[in-house]
Amino acid sequence: MKIQNKIVVITGASKGLGKACAMALVEKGASVFGIARNESALNELQQKLGQNFTPVALDLTDEENLSQWIANTFSEQKVPDILINNAGYGAFQKIEDVTAQEWATMLNLNLNATFLLTSQLVKLMKKNKSAKHIINIGSILGKVGRPEGTAYCTTKFGLQGFSEALSKELRYDQIKVTCLNPGSIATDFFKTSGIQAHENMLHPIDLAKTIVHILETPDNMLIDDLTIRPLNPKKG
Ligand SMILES: NC(=O)c1ccc[n+]([C@@H]2O[C@H](COP(=O)([O-])OP(=O)(O)OC[C@H]3O[C@@H](n4cnc5c(N)ncnc54)[C@H](OP(=O)(O)O)[C@@H]3O)[C@@H](O)[C@H]2O)c1
Repeated sequence: MKIQNKIVVITGASKGLGKACAMALVEKGASVFGIARNESALNELQQKLGQNFTPVALDLTDEENLSQWIANTFSEQKVPDILINNAGYGAFQKIEDVTAQEWATMLNLNLNATFLLTSQLVKLMKKNKSAKHIINIGSILGKVGRPEGTAYCTTKFGLQGFSEALSKELRYDQIKVTCLNPGSIATDFFKTSGIQAHENMLHPIDLAKTIVHILETPDNMLIDDLTIRPLNPKKG
């Protein structure tokens, strides 16, 4: 796909990997809608990126607001070409310390919001037969379990299944689906997750460049699943 002039929706665009993707895709000439709750961070990004970045301040777990925004923004005449389901939250604790509220917060954002946004945008994407692409940001923790990661691993293993099923469902509609599974990335994720950051994490901009590459592959070439990790996470 040629990214220039494509309409992109990125969730979690206020910081971290989502912000890096927004920057890389605007640089490629796309028109990006960046969703997150932190309005001032989104506005700051808009100042930097210009009119090809539209800040969308909303909580993805607010089903009514999300559906309203989709209905107000898109139509059969204005269909997103690319959706990057990136927003995610992880908190790591022993199973007996995971509250029902924390469990629900992770499932609501990492899985339920992804379903709500994707299902509504796919309906529109199918109206127009040009190439489309959905990228879901999973995790290595969607491939292997980790102690104190029951809730987060549940969501990322779930996202893996969601992506694989969706990819098979949409391939004949010219809609590619990719699940990208990164290892540790140097973002604010570690400030709140309760797990240890280390000195040799992946850089968001390098993953954003990989996402650009995945999007730019020829229409008949599908990278449906990709795992990326730091080569040497133990390096001091
Ligand atoms: N960092 C890692 O080591 C790592 C490794 C593997 C996979 N991942 C995955 O990569 C993705 C990006 O993570 P990151 O490292 O960039 O994390 P991050 O820096 O914490 O960014 C998370 C993003 O999600 C947004 N967000 C959180 N809750 C939201 C809500 N209810 N509604 C709307 N937006 C919401 C945040 O914006 P607001 O706070 O402004 O709403 C922020 O933009 C996540 O899916 C994460 O699970 C991360």
